Amino acid sequence: MKAPLRLAIAGLGTVGAGTIGLLARNADLLARRCGRQLIVNAVSARNRTKARGVDLAAARWYDDAVALAADPDSDVVVELIGGSDGIARQVVTTALEHGKHVVTANKALLAHHGTELARLAEQKGVALGFEAAVAGGIPILKALREGLAANHVTRVCGILNGTCNFILSQMRDSGREFNDVLAEAQRLGYAESDPSFDIDGVDAAHKLALLAAVAFGNIVDFAGVHIEGIRHVSALDIEFAAELGYRIKLLGLARLTEHGLEQRVHPCMVPRTTPIAHVEGVFNAIMVEGDFVGRVMLEGRGAGAEPTASAVVADLLDIAAERWSYGFAVPASALQLRATSPMTRHQGAYYVRLMVVDRPGVIADIAAALRDEAVSMEQMIQRGRAPGEAVPVVLTTHDTEEASMQRALDQIGKLKTVLEPPRMIRIEQF
Ligand SMILES: NC(=O)c1ccc[n+]([C@@H]2O[C@H](COP(=O)([O-])OP(=O)(O)OC[C@H]3O[C@@H](n4cnc5c(N)ncnc54)[C@H](OP(=O)(O)O)[C@@H]3O)[C@@H](O)[C@H]2O)c1
Repeated sequence: MKAPLRLAIAGLGTVGAGTIGLLARNADLLARRCGRQLIVNAVSARNRTKARGVDLAAARWYDDAVALAADPDSDVVVELIGGSDGIARQVVTTALEHGKHVVTANKALLAHHGTELARLAEQKGVALGFEAAVAGGIPILKALREGLAANHVTRVCGILNGTCNFILSQMRDSGREFNDVLAEAQRLGYAESDPSFDIDGVDAAHKLALLAAVAFGNIVDFAGVHIEGIRHVSALDIEFAAELGYRIKLLGLARLTEHGLEQRVHPCMVPRTTPIAHVEGVFNAIMVEGDFVGRVMLEGRGAGAEPTASAVVADLLDIAAERWSYGFAVPASALQLRATSPMTRHQGAYYVRLMVVDRPGVIADIAAALRDEAVSMEQMIQRGRAPGEAVPVVLTTHDTEEASMQRALDQIGKLKTVLEPPRMIRIEQF
């Protein structure tokens, strides 16, 4: 057997402790699979005395995670602290500069600095593994880099945030409003006390930028992601979605268009008949379309100690067996910077909900605003009749350009009979 692979682990929280637990519990299996042992040589966290439910007796303790990253007695630094800058970035940079392989679950760091870190890793001839950063336990990056490597990817899209998917699933099941379900998710530990990164779509956007980079060979372009969260999705929209044959999901989507790379995270109406509509609760799923393979979908747990540890250790096994490859599938120097395809050029169908005064002529005014922008309506639902009172009017459109849709909505929003800003949700076809 080869010499053990020596690991230095920075961060002993949910994922750090989960990773150490997996390394201990499955030690024999891992050694058989890569021909050597994986041993935890050194660890670092903030609080040395905290109980973490794992045996750290054999590991050297570092108060300073950056010093741990430079420890000459380790081969791989595993960064599980988190954050796009600060200590996590210093740990990863220091490790790479010292010629150590790095494995991380840190999507925020890679979404902001992934290309530059990949470049540094290549200069030093070491691996930068980040499978755990995208959809936790789902091995989507390996699938893109290896199993699907023969394809031009035409579209990648997925449910990339379990907190949002849990909230939307619960809203649909219970008919309750967003704030109510968010509070429940917080009580159950599915949402952070400050949930904004999740519910405002930022976490999903970090993951999408990484997915798009691997799928399309693009420089990681987080700034190019259009981001909308789920705060404005109402119980009424979820009810109408069901009536129209859709479910509402927060999706991350990327594709190449004639205008460049389109990357977007926003609530979508997806047909109830499509597999992704049935991915419920905290589960994640990613669908890839390749020019030869067609559609492939992977579903699983996108977070949590054990699923995320599964992805971290898969990267470690590749390093141990010396079969790792470029993190972004191609050398950093081969990554392209494509133009961002602007949302105004997005082509698709739309769901629109209006709260209107039930009065003769209202529908004609709405139809006229759509006609003026050449937006073709597919169907319209007017719920209930209450002359002189507010009633919801819902319509869906055929495919149209977003700029036209936005102009039509601006006009509709100015009508005196329309009482609230129009709510628009994009419809995604599969
Ligand atoms: N949780 C998930 O399900 C999940 C899934 C996928 C990816 N990730 C990513 O994995 C990373 C870790 O997430 P997590 O949920 O495990 O976080 P966490 O539970 O908050 O753990 C963070 C760890 O970092 C340590 N730490 C903080 N500042 C430090 C410093 N200056 N020096 C040394 N250690 C420091 C903390 O020490 P103390 O314990 O002493 O406070 C803690 O052990 C993040 O990048 C996250 O985005 C998480």
